[in-house]
Amino acid sequence: MSKSILITGGAGFIGSHVVRLFVNKYPNYTIVNLDALTYAGNLENLKDIDQQPNYKFEKANILDADVLDQIFTKHGITDVIHLAAESHVDRSISNPLEFVQTNVIGTVNLLNTAKKHWKADYTKHRFHHVSTDEVYGTLGDTGFFTESTPYDPNSPYSASKAASDHFVRAYGETYGLGYVITNCSNNYGPNHFPEKLIPLFINNIIHKKSLPVYGKGENTRDWLFVVDHARGIDTVFHTGKNHESYNIGGFNEWKNLDLVKLLCKQMDEKLGRAPGESEQLITYVKDRPGHDLRYAIDATKINKELGWSPSVTFEEGLSLTIDWYLNNTEWLNNVTSGSYQAYYEQQYVNR
Ligand code: NAD
Ligand code: TYD
Repeated sequence: MSKSILITGGAGFIGSHVVRLFVNKYPNYTIVNLDALTYAGNLENLKDIDQQPNYKFEKANILDADVLDQIFTKHGITDVIHLAAESHVDRSISNPLEFVQTNVIGTVNLLNTAKKHWKADYTKHRFHHVSTDEVYGTLGDTGFFTESTPYDPNSPYSASKAASDHFVRAYGETYGLGYVITNCSNNYGPNHFPEKLIPLFINNIIHKKSLPVYGKGENTRDWLFVVDHARGIDTVFHTGKNHESYNIGGFNEWKNLDLVKLLCKQMDEKLGRAPGESEQLITYVKDRPGHDLRYAIDATKINKELGWSPSVTFEEGLSLTIDWYLNNTEWLNNVTSGSYQAYYEQQYVNR
């Protein structure tokens, strides 16, 4: 069946990989990328597919309900894959309200628009909400997050994502809106804005700048290659059960310090530097307030019920990622000019 899918946040990191996958894989679908192009949104991410006949772009803000209404009418939107969000924990600590606005109010605006346009028959439409494992809070040394782990968010970012997940579920229960939610672990890969750990450290290693590890580097994250997340979203969007949530992750836990050491090793090899050279850039800085100790996803449900599993190992994915950054220095230079410098100073100087 032909669909007209609104993908929000499609100019961002994960959104651009989802847009690319859907545009290429489903020529019969119309893919409408709606993005406000904040600091994190970049149309350069999509220059390889933006001339495809089934791709459309709308510069719009999910806080503008009237514009959402017009876009649904103009493109006859049948389904939504919602990724637009403020996504960086450190920024949420400095400016929580912005996260409430985009992540909570923006999501409710989209839900209202979908509800209005699809009310004739909710069973024909799907609202796929893209969320994070951070809604579950933090783990100790053992255990995993499953789909039934109670929500227990600790940062303003994860609290705002948790609230948005609850609203999606509430619109399903109260009005019958068809939805699925995916909660994914930390992503890495090409086009990742260099404020998050992996792309920030790749950029700093290239420029021989210090690598600011928070606390003792003992916090653990579960990393998934972004293309595998996009494949997981495709799987759940098409075959996930209505009104259910699915965890997406690769059973791939790394302590921050171990990850940074692997990154340094791979980059020294690729840059022809002496073994151990980049590790000397590691500096321990003041910890993030409320820093979650450990995230680990149990991805059994999506694997057993829908047959999804990751396609690359972490070592392969990390190597592909480093190669992408080394081959796309213009992209990196463009996104780190301008306001990025002010952000960096505020975040890291005198930390
Ligand atoms: P990102 O910050 O790279 O991109 C967000 C995109 O949303 C940008 O293109 C930005 O311009 C757009 N946007 C922001 N505010 C908007 C608004 N008000 N209206 C319209 N567009 C707006 O984020 P990302 O890392 O690609 O994350 C995408 C989604 O996936 C988010 O919902 C995030 O919570 C979720 N997620 C991210 C990760 C991760 O590791 N990055 C993991 C799990 C889930
Ligand atoms: P990040 O990429 O911001 O993702 P999240 O906080 O959503 O998991 O951070 C990943 C881990 O790396 C997290 O434990 C915080 C840590 N970190 C640093 O040690 N230094 C940094 O400069 C950044 C950005 C993160």
